[in-house]
Amino acid sequence: MNLDCLHLLPRRVYATRTDESNGDVALTLSDAEVVLDARGYAVWQKVVERLAAGQPCRALPALLDRPAGEVSQALARFHEAGLLVEASDVPVSGSHFHEHEFAPVLPAWLNKAFSHPFWDRMTSGRGSKRLYAGWLVELYHYTRNANRHMPLAAAHCRNKPVKTLLAKHYEEEWNHYHFFSRAAAAMDIDPVLVRESEPLPMTMAMSDFMRQAARTDVMCYAICSAVLEGTTTDSAAFNPFYEKVRELYGVPEAAVTPIYEHLELDGKYQHADLFKEICSHEPAIGARRAAMVLDFGHQMVEHIWLWTDAIERYYADDTQPLPRPRFDAALD
Ligand SMILES: [Fe+2]
Repeated sequence: MNLDCLHLLPRRVYATRTDESNGDVALTLSDAEVVLDARGYAVWQKVVERLAAGQPCRALPALLDRPAGEVSQALARFHEAGLLVEASDVPVSGSHFHEHEFAPVLPAWLNKAFSHPFWDRMTSGRGSKRLYAGWLVELYHYTRNANRHMPLAAAHCRNKPVKTLLAKHYEEEWNHYHFFSRAAAAMDIDPVLVRESEPLPMTMAMSDFMRQAARTDVMCYAICSAVLEGTTTDSAAFNPFYEKVRELYGVPEAAVTPIYEHLELDGKYQHADLFKEICSHEPAIGARRAAMVLDFGHQMVEHIWLWTDAIERYYADDTQPLPRPRFDAALD
């Protein structure tokens, strides 16, 4: 490998595990696990620290105080193992970005978003009717908060056809919170109380993250939306959840039917394809912008996980009010 013209980036490592018997270290990537021996891992740590700090490959021999040939060999091994990827500076079309950079990582992202123990708890009988109700209330708030980020995204967008697509998406989505309100009502939660309740901080954080994305770059916004829509298209994944909550916790059918109606309606609008369509209107995306867009998508995955975590922690506690009342100067 010629260090002068190399531009390598370290892949994101989700977990590291050391085998105490031999010192080997297993690095978990989104789609694979790479095992390094203790010496290899020590080199990897030094390399990743420099590359993550923005140092070019050609600077590594001096920074690590090693001969160029040795550094080049180590980089080649890490690259071959999948720990390093080549970052191209050549801009690609939006459609190319969607097909080659977004679509391949989406399944691993969705797996991660749904790796929270909440899902296993709910489908294995260790959940509760109350947890389902709390989940509905927070979904109500998140969906209602579309009114805070969707028009903002359209307002910030400078690309006319994309702005039109965002406005259409908003027009179709703005009142979908009623599906969750109806489902909650079927569990004896007064719709007025739901409307006047306070969302969990993490529900607000997720909506505000969408606002941040909307202000940053329309592609950053659209990828987050695509990640979330991606969670609603795989009926084989979500149907067992709804069937199980009915069977295990006696959740009434009327508290599930509106959810199916919503999924069906969004399916009819083809919202899951919106990101692909938006990408088709982006003629050129440079490497730096592509990395930023992917980073926003990945952060959305983190938000979904943390949101699930917040919902589980709050609503698993029977002493907490459901829904959360707003602060009242007289009562509080
Ligand atoms: Fe919707």
